[in-house]
Amino acid sequence: MDRTALAHSHHSTSSKMSLTPTQPPAAEPATAEMSPPEARLAMMELANMIAVPMALTAVIRLGVPAAVWAGGANAPLSAAQLLPPGHPDPSVLERLLRLLASRGVFSEHAADGRPERRYALTAVGRTLVPSGPSGASYADYVLQHHQDALVLAWPRLHEAVLDPAGPEPFARAHAGVPAYAYYGQDRGANEVMLRAMTGVSEPFMEALLDGYEGGFEGVATLVDVGGSSGACLEMIMRRVPTIREGVNFDLPDVVAAAPTIAGVKHVGGDMFKSIPSGDAIFMKWVLTTWTNDECTAILKKCHEALPEGGKLIACEPVVPETTDASTRTRALLENDIFVMTTYRTQGRERSEEEFRQLGLTAGFTSFRALYLDPFYAVLEYVK
Ligand SMILES: C[S@@+](CC[C@H](N)C(=O)[O-])C[C@H]1O[C@@H](n2cnc3c(N)ncnc32)[C@H](O)[C@@H]1O
Repeated sequence: MDRTALAHSHHSTSSKMSLTPTQPPAAEPATAEMSPPEARLAMMELANMIAVPMALTAVIRLGVPAAVWAGGANAPLSAAQLLPPGHPDPSVLERLLRLLASRGVFSEHAADGRPERRYALTAVGRTLVPSGPSGASYADYVLQHHQDALVLAWPRLHEAVLDPAGPEPFARAHAGVPAYAYYGQDRGANEVMLRAMTGVSEPFMEALLDGYEGGFEGVATLVDVGGSSGACLEMIMRRVPTIREGVNFDLPDVVAAAPTIAGVKHVGGDMFKSIPSGDAIFMKWVLTTWTNDECTAILKKCHEALPEGGKLIACEPVVPETTDASTRTRALLENDIFVMTTYRTQGRERSEEEFRQLGLTAGFTSFRALYLDPFYAVLEYVK
């Protein structure tokens, strides 16, 4: 079923009456204080954790977030209301929604006199609904990460440990073809990747542009290295009119699928060979997927393409020094393992200090990190 399949669901704003959101669960005991039964329970949860992203993927494939959101109504709907009339067993969908409510994606509502549970989107769930002009959202990112080609790599994760310098699990699962080359060969996968990047980039770019005062001052030509669809460049240029020319630089197959954007020139190439020159370079979520040696090579090519005093503005996840159970730390560490599995075993999330050292090795003279968003940091390198 495609993602619009549920758009005709029986949406009713009158269902807002008599709603009782369920109580959040009681706080869990700290891991060190767990009794053996509590510990077994915690392990049972970890053992079946795959149900969470797969249930999320399923409801997105079924078009549930858009149907519940319904242009902003977000009125709680039951599984039966979300499915076509006469569906033989709505309880199957209800079980997915219950699990996702326990994970904070949906709020669950019990209404007076109604037997069925009803679901609306929480703030977390709303990230699955487009908020920017592209129509992409975090739903596209979830779909990208759980398409068959990427999922196939995960059972081979232990092979990354045994052979860290060998092909990453994705390449092992695809007869040696790495992920970026795979997207280049598969039009559908390439489009899913482009949308996923746009869906995640749009809200981050708003935060960046709100907080990064003077960051693009004096820049008339800005090059986005690994710019994907050009969505980041388009957003920067809309907010910073002094940038007259944008160069969206990515692999030839990627820019071939990118939309036309006023003021933006799409250039296909290989950043390991040469990068188009400009007053400044923007580069988001590129370094993380490569090894230290590859990052140094990319940073050197950026250095070559910049004028004296020119700036490279890189936006990357920066891994915290301490390990804790916060959402931020978990999101960053999970992404680190995603990179290990999909892109490069020795591609990785790095600390601020590691990013500073990479820049110095490539010849940059100054570095600073700005934390304008909990996931991506802004890393400024000056030539
Ligand atoms: C994780 S994506 C980030 C996309 C975009 N910057 C964003 O944040 O939305 C990494 C990008 O690097 C591009 N890329 C990979 N290898 C490249 C190469 N050798 N030369 C240029 N771009 C490359 C990919 O095609 C992809 O668009």
